Amino acid sequence: MSTGRAAVVTGIGSYVPPNVVTNDDLAERLDTSDAWIRSRTGIAERNFITPGTSTGDLAVEAGLRALKSAGDERVGAVVLATTTPDQPCPATAPQVAARLGLGQVPAFDVAAVCSGFPYGLASAAGLIAAGITDRVLLIAADAFTTIINPADRTTAVIFADGAGAVVLRAGDADEPGAIGPLVLGSDGELSHLIEVPAGGSRQRSSDRPVDPEDHYFRMLGRDTYRHAVERMTAASTEAAERAGWRLDDVDRFVAHQANARILEAVSDRLGIPAERQLSNIARVGNTGAASIPLLLAEATAEGRLAAGHRVLLTAFGGGLSWGATTVVWPELQTT
Ligand code: UT7
Repeated sequence: MSTGRAAVVTGIGSYVPPNVVTNDDLAERLDTSDAWIRSRTGIAERNFITPGTSTGDLAVEAGLRALKSAGDERVGAVVLATTTPDQPCPATAPQVAARLGLGQVPAFDVAAVCSGFPYGLASAAGLIAAGITDRVLLIAADAFTTIINPADRTTAVIFADGAGAVVLRAGDADEPGAIGPLVLGSDGELSHLIEVPAGGSRQRSSDRPVDPEDHYFRMLGRDTYRHAVERMTAASTEAAERAGWRLDDVDRFVAHQANARILEAVSDRLGIPAERQLSNIARVGNTGAASIPLLLAEATAEGRLAAGHRVLLTAFGGGLSWGATTVVWPELQTT
């Protein structure tokens, strides 16, 4: 059955800043080692922005590539999923839209931390389903190093900077590229597991003096790990069921690149063999909201993800928040 207003992927692009930071580089200034980072996270290197670069800059680069890949540079809306907007106010998306020469289109940010991509897909699909526009540029970008405490070895070795983007157009639910049923959820009872305590109205309206450390990102790693495995497994199972797929049908499994051990645990629980799982965490680390579209773009360019592949994707992050969906991969130009 077709709705005629499904959101269909028609372009893809990504960008990581050129500054590569290895585990040994981090071990020069932190009490850590290449062996610990590799064995506990699967990360070997990642890309950090250099001073002067912002999330908006990364978003513009990925957005340009996605628009070029789509072959038609006009869109009617821009959605930016990010944890690290250029400023607390206004949203970063309008400036990104202007810098991309897209004119005065609707543009807004989505704040769902590392689940930003599926939440952004829901926003973009909603704009299309509501008839507000036929084409949306969805960018997911994070400059995590701007909120990480460089002295905190539990987060500084994991998080990194990057951006990924897709162009979505109105189309038919049955055609390749159509975003399948979206499963989304949150648990605000556990918001303390991943947080930046200061900088918002809660801290600003309190009479407690602010500790400079409260402006940094904090994560309770072990608890977060457990919830990440449970939530991504459950959301993936539900998304596949709602799409009418068996897990055996999945050709490529794409999970938020949080930690290689989490990825292994989730695919084990789902019974998806390792060779059907895509991963780039060894090279790029955990890039927050950008993680999934960055991986999709790289895998498409490398041919690891090809037209016709049945893709199951899932994300998990602060909030807590999570999401999953399915898509039969379309034929895409990569730049
Ligand atoms: O993207 C959003 C979602 N994020 C996630 O899902 C991330 C979830 N969590 C994780 O990936 C893992 O919990 C971490 C990678 C953050 C930590 O790995 P872990 O295996 O859970 O380690 P742990 O926190 O249990 O710490 C084990 C030990 C501790 O030492 P003691 O207490 O056993 O003496 C830590 O202090 O490892 C120590 N440790 C480190 N040692 C060397 C923690 N970080 C480091 C480090 N280098 N960078």
